[in-house]
Amino acid sequence: MAIKSYVGALLLLLSFSSTINAQVFPIGNYGAKADGSDVSQALVSAWKEACASLNPATVQIPAGTFALSEVTLEGPCKNPLEFQLQGTLQAPADPSSFKTDGWIVFQNMDGFTLSGSGTFDGKGQIAWTKNDCHKNTDCRTLPTNLRFNFVSNAIVHDVTTLDSKNFHVTVMGCKNQTFQHFHVSAPADSINTDGIHIGRSTGINILDTDIKTGDDCVSLGDGSEQVTVKGVSCGPGHGISVGSLGKYDNESPVSGVFVTNCTITGADNGVRIKTWPASKPGIASDMHFEDIQMNDVLNPVLIDQGYCPFNQCKAGIPSQVKISKVSFKKIRGTSKSQVAVKLACSQSVPCAEVEIADIDLAYQGPEGPATSECSNVKPLISGIQNPPACAKVVS
Ligand SMILES: *[C@@H]1O[C@H](CO)[C@@H](O)[C@H](O)[C@H]1NC(C)=O
Ligand SMILES: *[C@@H]1O[C@H](CO)[C@@H](O)[C@H](O)[C@H]1NC(C)=O
Repeated sequence: MAIKSYVGALLLLLSFSSTINAQVFPIGNYGAKADGSDVSQALVSAWKEACASLNPATVQIPAGTFALSEVTLEGPCKNPLEFQLQGTLQAPADPSSFKTDGWIVFQNMDGFTLSGSGTFDGKGQIAWTKNDCHKNTDCRTLPTNLRFNFVSNAIVHDVTTLDSKNFHVTVMGCKNQTFQHFHVSAPADSINTDGIHIGRSTGINILDTDIKTGDDCVSLGDGSEQVTVKGVSCGPGHGISVGSLGKYDNESPVSGVFVTNCTITGADNGVRIKTWPASKPGIASDMHFEDIQMNDVLNPVLIDQGYCPFNQCKAGIPSQVKISKVSFKKIRGTSKSQVAVKLACSQSVPCAEVEIADIDLAYQGPEGPATSECSNVKPLISGIQNPPACAKVVS
């Protein structure tokens, strides 16, 4: 009997504590209204109380459309925190109203969940017309929709980032963060709207996510380590890219990149590694691209060590970023240009241990079937090779 009532009390206690677990902080309790007025004060107040909560807490944004100016939501918090977005948060359309380069910044969190079926609407349309960073090196950095700075053990799922003014998401100084069933949406002609950009972070997973945007769907900057991109559909956009690398002093190595089971449609690039010419020294190794479907992609497989958009560099001087241990396997579909596979490695630090296996990429055009080009690389070749591997060797 004594044991039975003890078990009963324990069960009661457990169910009680799971109700306290679900401590919810709706922004409406802090004065937020879906009437076009800025909810940033209400959101920050709700966040602060949730963050100080002695139990796991949820900051909740209900259905409806809420105007939000730039905010920093930071920890450390007493307990794991969830940010649940059911409705839509809308950024100010005018980029000049921003003081910083982030719309919503999550930082210094350990144990964080961002969830809900809602949308972060960056209202980027005006900003895109003002982005002159491709020709003006002193240009103002436009705000990113969601910045994660120094966040560990986090999950981001189901939410949508829409029409960011600049990159949609940046992940900097983070550890063990997973994006799953995440959505990125912006038009093909939106400028510099990378989907998810990762830098100086380790253990980042992007799973079962769809990304339609105007720049790279995923871009991995220096210091990206142990990154898995799996089940991602990309396009329109500029593909899944490592780099660009080598622009700055003291860049950290990129290592451990696994891109598998992805579909890339109507994009400018498929999978690519890009480094600047005349670069600083750097290292990028252990990068694997496997089981990728290409549909009408302009440059399906590309190593570009002479990456120099808008001629902002000394194109003739080779890159100093050493690329090694790269594999491209089971890559199939259609190319929109004749050179379906291009491995253009650096003359001063040639690529090492590159493997290409089971490539089946078709091109239909007046010039003839798909072809491939290699410079400063001698890949290990196996399986189907359509186009024939290194059909043209350029020195
Ligand atoms: C990674 O983060 C998730 C979500 O917080 C957590 O469940 C998991 O245990 C973490 N993994 C490691 C290896 O710390
Ligand atoms: C590949 O990704 C798709 C989603 O794009 C998913 O439905 C499928 O189950 C995945 N297959 C494997 C083998 O992981």
